[in-house]
Amino acid sequence: KRVAILISGGGSNMVALAESMAGDHPARPVLVLSNVPGAGGLAKAEGMGIPTALVDHRPFGKDRAAFEAALQAELDRAAPDILCLAGFMRVLTEGFVTGWAGRMLNIHPSLLPKYRGLDTHARAIAAGDTQAGCSVHEVTAELDGGPILGQARVPVLPGDTPETLAARVLTMEHRLYPAVLHRFAMGDRRPVMLP
Ligand code: GRF
Repeated sequence: KRVAILISGGGSNMVALAESMAGDHPARPVLVLSNVPGAGGLAKAEGMGIPTALVDHRPFGKDRAAFEAALQAELDRAAPDILCLAGFMRVLTEGFVTGWAGRMLNIHPSLLPKYRGLDTHARAIAAGDTQAGCSVHEVTAELDGGPILGQARVPVLPGDTPETLAARVLTMEHRLYPAVLHRFAMGDRRPVMLP
């Protein structure tokens, strides 16, 4: 299976996914695509020998469809079977998502369906939750709403800040996403639950 990974920032999840595909694996990374010029993940991907592309969303303004047409043009060139959103911070239209139905994954830093959207760690702390975590789901038109393919739980500790909790969750993201991608690439849809 050919995998394209979409990023907007440092790409630590992209690195974890790419490294997980290095050995005997049903998938391999064929493209790392960012919407942000100079995103740290682009340099990391280049350092790993993975083809990269940049589609800056800013020139497209509010024209999401035009931006996504440019994304699709890059994707057509790489011909991926699976899209992994990994710290990709653009909301995708129903049209784009429908075109990739059943072949696009995303990782979200909360135990969905709790805390869809942003600032998940601050919200979990504010709510007094004793557990937090991350979820990998199939991407559908409903933001952070598709079928759950995996979850990883971490404790929320007294004195946690959003930053300390984010770091604890990110470590689990780097374990969860590769485990889900491996199963997904094998056609196995059983959810991965960690620990
Ligand atoms: C992190 O907040 C992570 O929880 C979320 O995207 C952000 C950046 O991740 N998935 P990455 O380091 O760019 O993969």
